[in-house]
Amino acid sequence: MIFPDLIARKRDGEALTAEEIYSMVTGYTSGQIPDYQMSAMLMAVYFQGMTDPEIAALTRAMIDSGDRIDLSGIPGVKVDKHSTGGVGDKVSLILAPLVAAAGVPVPMMAGRGLGHTGGTLDKLEAIPGFRTQLSDAEFRDVLRQTRFAMIGQTEKIVPADRKLYALRDVTATVPSIPLIVSSILSKKKAEGTDALVLDVKIGRGAFLKSRKETHRLAEALVRLGNALGLRTRALLTRMDQPLGRAVGNWPETREAVQTLRGQGPEDLLEVTLALGSVMLVLGGKAEGYGEAAATLKGLLASGEPFRRFREMTRLQGGDVSFLEEPDRFPGSAQTVDVPAPEAGFVSDIDAFRVGLYAMSLGAGRTRKEDTVDPAAGLVLHKKAGSPVEKGETLATVYTNRREDPEHLGKRLLESFAFSPEPPDDPGPLVEELLDETGRHPFQTKKPLR
Ligand code: URA
Repeated sequence: MIFPDLIARKRDGEALTAEEIYSMVTGYTSGQIPDYQMSAMLMAVYFQGMTDPEIAALTRAMIDSGDRIDLSGIPGVKVDKHSTGGVGDKVSLILAPLVAAAGVPVPMMAGRGLGHTGGTLDKLEAIPGFRTQLSDAEFRDVLRQTRFAMIGQTEKIVPADRKLYALRDVTATVPSIPLIVSSILSKKKAEGTDALVLDVKIGRGAFLKSRKETHRLAEALVRLGNALGLRTRALLTRMDQPLGRAVGNWPETREAVQTLRGQGPEDLLEVTLALGSVMLVLGGKAEGYGEAAATLKGLLASGEPFRRFREMTRLQGGDVSFLEEPDRFPGSAQTVDVPAPEAGFVSDIDAFRVGLYAMSLGAGRTRKEDTVDPAAGLVLHKKAGSPVEKGETLATVYTNRREDPEHLGKRLLESFAFSPEPPDDPGPLVEELLDETGRHPFQTKKPLR
């Protein structure tokens, strides 16, 4: 293979063969193809895209770059969930034990926060002692005992993705549909799940900003996932304002625990129950989404999902006393209440800006190697649509960084908008379901209430 010729063909819009793609991935992973050539190829893919057979070949080659976890000894249809990333998105922490309690095994390989979005691993690691790096045998053992386990990508799983993602990150080639699809699906196939539900975020706080591109991404993920033998469905959920009230690692873990104990905010519950109902149907534990959602609501009220979360935490080395008594968690150096500057209604809270703000408090990372401060973040006391009095507390901010409290408040207010009248109803939070047959409305809200 003459790699510059391959780059030129992709640059000129030609499709590459499966063999060529295979050699490219093995050549890059082994170090034979240097970063500068691969960067040019990634940019060519970014502009020219890939056909479905090319994406499938790329995904297969990436899976073959490492090991696959064998979950054939775990009974039942294994179903995982993946979110394209949002702000305040702690759904996985509630969803995995909830769906497991309903009888569906959930082998979850999660990611870290990057940019303005948070990551499940960082939230779990906020629990002192929690280990997200388990051996395959430990992963299977936790999965057997609690019917779910939550780990990070290991060195041996899809090494091609680790290398490619790092290069994409520094060459402005992350937002490319073929590259995103192959990155996500290769990891899910390698982790050993049978089925997958994707929470594709749409709106200002989402990873891709355009609605059209987001629809294309969701369609490609569902199409390619099914073509690769992974039963895949997706929900398009709105990410205009943060999900729930907490943003930041420990604040979000704490809110997830509260939700597992029956005191969760409505929007967080709505998204969790919608995704969970799709997982139950895929896992063969319910015929329809309405029936599945009713089962999940009943389970949440029983306390069983919380018990399972506590047990998984214990098995993965976490100190469960922090789940039982969240107030034990050490506070941050600064805790600042931010007052409303005017009376009326909160008309908008910009999730993207809040995500960047949380990063500035220490909750996020700009580079993969950065460490995060688990205590940093904020809790919103008002959400879009809430009436508010002048001076009432809009949010509480937690940080260990030094900053004038007034300035901290002022910066957060840049994410808020106010109006004298209630804002318009923004429409359903769960916009659509995508399955093998196409796009469908997904209105869980009315039957769930
Ligand atoms: N998440 C991934 O795992 N890969 C991408 O390329 C983008 C988001």
